[in-house]
Amino acid sequence: MGGCSQKMHLIFLLLLVFLLSPRAEAGEIIGGKECKPHSRPYMAFLEICTSEGHTGHCGGFLIRRDFVLTAAHCAGSSIVVTLGAHNIKEKQDTWQKHEVIKQFPHPKYNGFTVRNDIMLLKLKEKANLTLAVGTLPLPSQSNFVPPGRMCRVVGWGKTGVEEPGSDILQEVKLRLMDPQACRHYPNFHHNLQLCVGNPRKINSPFKGDSGGPLLCAGVAQGIVSYGRGNAKPPAVFTRISHYRPWINKVLKEN
Ligand SMILES: *[C@@H]1O[C@H](CO)[C@@H](O)[C@H](O)[C@H]1NC(C)=O
Repeated sequence: MGGCSQKMHLIFLLLLVFLLSPRAEAGEIIGGKECKPHSRPYMAFLEICTSEGHTGHCGGFLIRRDFVLTAAHCAGSSIVVTLGAHNIKEKQDTWQKHEVIKQFPHPKYNGFTVRNDIMLLKLKEKANLTLAVGTLPLPSQSNFVPPGRMCRVVGWGKTGVEEPGSDILQEVKLRLMDPQACRHYPNFHHNLQLCVGNPRKINSPFKGDSGGPLLCAGVAQGIVSYGRGNAKPPAVFTRISHYRPWINKVLKEN
């Protein structure tokens, strides 16, 4: 897992700090469970090649047969998307590998403040919809999801102090917090982002790889963006509803 970009590097370093923290115990980080195979058919595994030739991994999710939504800090010189996977190390007949022909990071993505951390990926070919591959609905612009809700993050992210990542898709339940719980993040903005994960709980939003979805009542409300160096919840997710006009525009024009 190298750096896809400077920002991804930074996020990876934060994770590293977290992973090496002497207070971190495996049980504090795990807290999730394996997904039932193919129960999350929209999940995309992203292999990213950076301009320096390193490789990185992110999550993402299929929103149209030819479009995947992910985080802007997952951009690279080239990206290959795998759909229909459960264990990412075990190739199955359900897998569909897709080349990304165009990356659309949000035009106002800022790698220093990590605001507008959202990106659309256009696939070279349309995905075939199967039992293992499907699309995930997005919220409308007016669907401003309030604090208090319980949601789930899904990804092939870290599962423990000694684990570089999980081969098997994982999910974990997390609570949407009041914006005050994220006031230690100087660039947190309630209208653009979600503050996710109860600080008194052990479940870590780092469970999901960057770019993966936050599901609230079956709708993708957030995208994993960044968290604290010691991985103590809450973490910050991009609020998808705010970006619906931009998403609609890119989908319409492409
Ligand atoms: C989709 O299905 C068609 C027809 O069966 C096949 O030719 C194509 O390779 C499939 N695409 C992918 C990405 O698996």
